[in-house]
Amino acid sequence: MHANLMLRRLQGKVALITGGARGIGECTARLFSKHGAKVLIADIKDDLGESVCKDIGSSSSSASGCSYVHCDVTKEKDIENAVNTAVTQYGKLDIMFNNAGTVDEVKPNILDNDQAEFERILSINLVGAFLGRNMLLGVCGIIGGAATHAYTSSKHGLLGLMKNTAVELGRFGIRVNCVSPYAVSTPLAKDFLKLADDGLGGMYSNLKGAVLEPEDAAEAALYLGSDESKCVSGHNLVVDGGFAIVNAGFSVFGKSE
Ligand SMILES: NC(=O)c1ccc[n+]([C@@H]2O[C@H](COP(=O)([O-])OP(=O)(O)OC[C@H]3O[C@@H](n4cnc5c(N)ncnc54)[C@H](O)[C@@H]3O)[C@@H](O)[C@H]2O)c1
Repeated sequence: MHANLMLRRLQGKVALITGGARGIGECTARLFSKHGAKVLIADIKDDLGESVCKDIGSSSSSASGCSYVHCDVTKEKDIENAVNTAVTQYGKLDIMFNNAGTVDEVKPNILDNDQAEFERILSINLVGAFLGRNMLLGVCGIIGGAATHAYTSSKHGLLGLMKNTAVELGRFGIRVNCVSPYAVSTPLAKDFLKLADDGLGGMYSNLKGAVLEPEDAAEAALYLGSDESKCVSGHNLVVDGGFAIVNAGFSVFGKSE
């Protein structure tokens, strides 16, 4: 096979990526497009989303096409419209990457967390993925203490939703999976962790020298969206350099330098 074709793991596929205007979603849109997919970015940051699309479309490596649609994932009508746009524009929809998400301010005492803010985070991170019917999780979906109550609850909820939908949709040949990165240096993580522009510096990885980048989450999404994972469903692909398996308070192996 020609080397270029071998590289195009999503040739002929159509992907809808929510929250694709920046961060992990943007990176995934670029990677999917490089692999031959037609990509529809759905976001609320219209200017940013359109400029990412233009850039992808004009990139010489991408003859596949990218377009943008305004979509607030908390609104069912917007999601319906995004799915219909993919089908009208590209004839079908193969991959739905429910990546849009947000995080609230840390208030360590649960009594200081108000209902409206809790519900706002759940409505974007969990209900948004429910409306999209399928998801990007994060290790906060499997461990506690790494983010706010609302964020952690929303991502734990997503894991259950992913498993249930995978069971239901398997009989139609539809696979449902999650990608769970830990801290990736995006605007969301930098705001939340109050980081300088040089990012995370690998401090959250258990692997010497491994710094999690948006590309690592995008590569995981590429695998799950491609035929290479045709037998993988109901799976949570954790991409965290071993973070979630380590208890920071106890290790017989000592700390890496
Ligand atoms: N960055 C990390 O460390 C990290 C780790 C684990 C999981 N995640 C998850 O990855 C996903 C992407 O995060 P990111 O770090 O790229 O964040 P980001 O803030 O850089 O990008 C998120 C995108 O989602 C969009 N968005 C927010 N609310 C929306 C809504 N209601 N409708 C449509 N789009 C909306 C934003 O406009 C933005 O373009 C989120 O679900 C997040 O929880 C991130």
